[in-house]
Amino acid sequence: STILVLHGPNLNLLGTREPDIYGADTLESINQRLTALCIDAGHHLQVLQSNAEYELINRIHDARQEGVNFILINPAAFTHTSVALRDALAAVAIPFIELHLSNVHSREAFRRHSYFSDIAAGVICGFGALSYELALQAAFAQLKTSE
Ligand code: DQA
Repeated sequence: STILVLHGPNLNLLGTREPDIYGADTLESINQRLTALCIDAGHHLQVLQSNAEYELINRIHDARQEGVNFILINPAAFTHTSVALRDALAAVAIPFIELHLSNVHSREAFRRHSYFSDIAAGVICGFGALSYELALQAAFAQLKTSE
């Protein structure tokens, strides 16, 4: 199957961005680990990081044409703001997992609301870079049951 990983705004700065909250791993190292795990499991991984809402939305639209089977998304700050990104995921009807590096429930109150959680297959947060790997394992399991 093909799995698409979407990283929202400011995640290109991982490694140097508030490392006490987001950890020391770079986005590049996270993407490399995910790619290796996908190859081992016989799946194909595609990745996009963007700071622009429209680019993420257009990538989601294209995913339907390309037959992408599953999406992992860390919408970053768009989690708390973007009806448009939510609507794009609902429109293509590709199952997705929402994930966050930090535990969004233990931080500022505005991070507790997500425009994605209620339509996600599941939500993972609080485990740093490991959140991505856990989400990928969950995606593998979901793909297996939908075979
Ligand atoms: C984040 C949490 C968001 O609240 C924040 O805006 C981010 C990253 C996380 O991965 O912990 O940019 O999605």
